Amino acid sequence: MGTDKTGDDRFPGARACRAAGLFALAVVALGCGRPIAFSAADIAAARPLAGAPRTFFLGAATSAYQIEGGNHNDWTEWEKGSYPDGTPHVAGGASAARIADSWNLWRSDLAALQLIGANFYRLGVEWSRLEPAPGVWDEAAAARYREMFAALRAAGITPMVTLFHFTLPTWVAARGGWDWDGAPEALAAFAGRAGAAFGGEVDWWCTINEPNVLVAKSYLAGQWPPAARDPARAARVLAATMRAHGLMTRALRDQDRTDADGDGHATRVGIAQNLRLFDPHSARPIDGIVAGVADWFYDESFLDAVTLGRIRVVLPGVADIDEPFPPLAGSFDYLGINYYTRDLIVGSLRGDEHYRTAAAPGQPRNDLGWEIYPEGLYRLLVRYARRGWPLFVTENGVADGRDVQRADFLRAHLYAVDRARADGVDVIGYLHWSLIDNFEWSHGFHGRFGLFKVDFDDPALTRRPTAAVAVFQEAARNLGTLR
Ligand code: FCB
Repeated sequence: MGTDKTGDDRFPGARACRAAGLFALAVVALGCGRPIAFSAADIAAARPLAGAPRTFFLGAATSAYQIEGGNHNDWTEWEKGSYPDGTPHVAGGASAARIADSWNLWRSDLAALQLIGANFYRLGVEWSRLEPAPGVWDEAAAARYREMFAALRAAGITPMVTLFHFTLPTWVAARGGWDWDGAPEALAAFAGRAGAAFGGEVDWWCTINEPNVLVAKSYLAGQWPPAARDPARAARVLAATMRAHGLMTRALRDQDRTDADGDGHATRVGIAQNLRLFDPHSARPIDGIVAGVADWFYDESFLDAVTLGRIRVVLPGVADIDEPFPPLAGSFDYLGINYYTRDLIVGSLRGDEHYRTAAAPGQPRNDLGWEIYPEGLYRLLVRYARRGWPLFVTENGVADGRDVQRADFLRAHLYAVDRARADGVDVIGYLHWSLIDNFEWSHGFHGRFGLFKVDFDDPALTRRPTAAVAVFQEAARNLGTLR
């Protein structure tokens, strides 16, 4: 379950699926959407973003740990380790120690954004850098981030800041990480501090990146620290991320009172949620049941919590968390959608492997084996429009080390956005993942998602445009952000 970052996806919690049949079927019936297939000729003929207003946000996204270098957190520790059979935790034993060195080379990233005509950039601040020990705030690091945000704004590029993107300071990990009862409050304190420090430059905030991927990779699949395979624990952590988001939002709204861009809003808060389609592989009821449970747990539960102001995380027979949590109510000003692929679900009632994904016949796949399915973005946008939040595509991209798929990928996914907008969906922005090649978690240097390539052996770490840059520029010209 979750973004398949190692090719070994299982859903241990799916034992519970047997008990969840009727409920799940109802979810599947709601979630399936009508079949839709884009025509290659239509995509080729379309003028990307030609119908979008000038206020549409077009840009790219990165995360602090994946590009900055020079950080020290739970992932730095994880990278050094290996599994009992000797396989390194990160492919090839790669480390993010220097990676793209954006901490020092951030002006090169800014130049790349200007070259493509971006008017928006989602980037992270690294918690462990800003708060290296409990309650200790690194003013020099904060000043560097402020300088970056000010430079972006001076270039007409609105920053969105992600506060948590998978990495924890070691002092938080030592207390139990997300299992520590104090984690949500610690994150809220950090968010408040960040709100006060950066609010003069920043209005757009992403509290947590992909709580569902964190839970799936770190607590179900055992592939990221702390490498657990424990559905009950996964459910508890998912609930903790909900609490954290609610408290972080409250802290941000409290501490950031400055309307930096003068649009009448001092803060715009949301999460970036990895939303994916769980399509049943066949008409067998078990495929639909398992797809439905996965869909609810992964895609919907967090959104329900925000809608209802109530944390409900239910895995029948495994976890049943149900508690009101008022800070969640109204805590989204937008819903960030990170979209990459879909899963075709093969369910099973036997053995331990209740969940498996199958390849869609004839569909192209990226370097990491993820199906390229632009229709999925359209389907998700239409589906989530009913939730009522403005939708922001906060990540979308392709692992394509040879640079043979990205240009078409970008064109097709912008087409999906345009189609959804033409159908009345309130999509307010599209950010490509990633601006530059970066550290792709357990894949290390293998998942090359950058609009700009980076050769990590090149001492200068030059950012070199991929073929997709021309497509991006075409969209930026249509939008009017590039001449
Ligand atoms: C998303 C993550 C991002 C990156 C892309 C490929 O799930 O948010 O950090 O790994 O996938």
